[in-house]
Amino acid sequence: MNFSGILYIAMLFVTLEFEISICSLNPNDYQMVVTYGKPSKFTTPKILTITFDDCVQECWSDPTCVLVYDTSPSCQMFNLANITTVQKLNSSSNSRIAFRTYSTSSTCPNLTTTPILVGGTITGNTYYSPGTNLEVYQEFNVTLNTKTSTWSFTSTVYYPCLYMLPMTRGGKVYCFMVGMTSSCMNKTASLAFLGTTGYTLMGIANIWEYEYFKNTAISYLSLQTGSKNYTRIGFWIDGVRKTSCKYPVVNSAACNGTNEFTYSDKTAPNPVFEWVPGQPNGLLNNPPNSNCLYLRASNNGESGVDDMPCNYSVDTTLDLCMYGALMGTPANPNAVS
Ligand SMILES: *[C@@H]1O[C@H](CO)[C@@H](O)[C@H](O)[C@H]1NC(C)=O
Ligand SMILES: *[C@@H]1O[C@H](CO)[C@@H](O)[C@H](O)[C@H]1NC(C)=O
Ligand SMILES: *[C@@H]1O[C@H](CO)[C@@H](O)[C@H](O)[C@H]1NC(C)=O
Ligand SMILES: *[C@@H]1O[C@H](CO)[C@@H](O)[C@H](O)[C@H]1NC(C)=O
Ligand SMILES: *[C@@H]1O[C@H](CO)[C@@H](O)[C@H](O)[C@H]1NC(C)=O
Ligand SMILES: *[C@@H]1O[C@H](CO)[C@@H](O)[C@H](O)[C@H]1NC(C)=O
Ligand SMILES: *[C@@H]1O[C@H](CO)[C@@H](O)[C@H](O)[C@H]1NC(C)=O
Ligand SMILES: *[C@@H]1O[C@H](CO)[C@@H](O)[C@H](O)[C@H]1NC(C)=O
Repeated sequence: MNFSGILYIAMLFVTLEFEISICSLNPNDYQMVVTYGKPSKFTTPKILTITFDDCVQECWSDPTCVLVYDTSPSCQMFNLANITTVQKLNSSSNSRIAFRTYSTSSTCPNLTTTPILVGGTITGNTYYSPGTNLEVYQEFNVTLNTKTSTWSFTSTVYYPCLYMLPMTRGGKVYCFMVGMTSSCMNKTASLAFLGTTGYTLMGIANIWEYEYFKNTAISYLSLQTGSKNYTRIGFWIDGVRKTSCKYPVVNSAACNGTNEFTYSDKTAPNPVFEWVPGQPNGLLNNPPNSNCLYLRASNNGESGVDDMPCNYSVDTTLDLCMYGALMGTPANPNAVS
């Protein structure tokens, strides 16, 4: 994933007497809490030869990271499987650690009351890949026992997605996939295909998802198996043009880009993505009406979302094949979806 917000949050360093926390205002909702301690029960960490500040940033942007430890001039990075307990130390130890914590708050935690620093449990989450084509979203507890001055990590509920990627929306976990078939399909045929799988057509909820889905779609360009390789490939996504925003209605505040369409994916009611330059242009078209949205992948630098007639399976002018759809399903706790 591309966490382009890093420079922005780096400016939000809040320095307190003993602890520093980096607050994030991005939709992934993670905060790094920096304090003093030392891993006490663990297996092989990943060793990075970078400064501790860079290491904290690295962990913040890596969904598999749960803790980093300052071993200047290097740094140790732990995933959940590799860390069990951490000894709490005071500032004279000069032994810094940073927890990657989940938080829906856009402000820093109050360091004099936050359970991870004064005693209690916080719930975190992380991602890992335990096997081929299996991706897991895992929740865990970090508990600070003030009697023993130790933090312990405990795994709790997990959501495995087979051939799909787990992502959260509104606190719920879903398995997603840019679904690719072997033939070109109009939207009706694509929805009929989805119906047989039990997945539904999804929208794109935020710019991080968009970057991920777009890059996945681009990686499919070289996986075409038909009798011909297309220059561009497309995947239907949620979004249908409003009747009030069809030719010959002209561009206005009420019909200007994303709001020219209605969305039925309740988990992404206000989608965020980038358009192919110059799109959507359906307002300018005589029939055929460009009433449906799709994600276009191209090696020519014009990937993005575009509007297109719903009954097209191929656009010969663009040398584009509609290979599938963005699909998803709620993930099952502790069972493969
Ligand atoms: C974490 O532990 C696992 C199993 O104990 C090991 O295979 C892996 O190399 C360790 N380190 C990382 C960074 O995953
Ligand atoms: C920090 O911890 C050490 C070892 O437990 C102790 O000797 C020292 O007094 C503590 N310092 C402060 C400022 O609490
Ligand atoms: C943090 O919590 C303490 C104790 O409840 C309170 O006195 C203090 O004002 C809070 N600090 C901030 C910045 O809210
Ligand atoms: C995790 O923490 C929650 C909240 O404190 C608690 O209810 C739950 O039992 C804990 N789960 C485990 C496995 O420790
Ligand atoms: C399409 O591209 C793939 C990968 O580049 C290649 O293996 C395959 O032979 C091509 N198919 C055709 C019909 O050209
Ligand atoms: C449409 O949106 C763009 C970008 O947000 C804005 O610059 C433009 O003025 C808007 N056009 C109309 C007609 O509202
Ligand atoms: C979509 O494609 C199917 C299969 O090729 C075809 O039967 C159907 O008429 C098409 N529907 C629309 C609305 O274009
Ligand atoms: C799509 O539908 C329009 C009428 O709305 C029709 O003129 C056109 O031929 C259809 N195209 C395909 C590829 O089915």
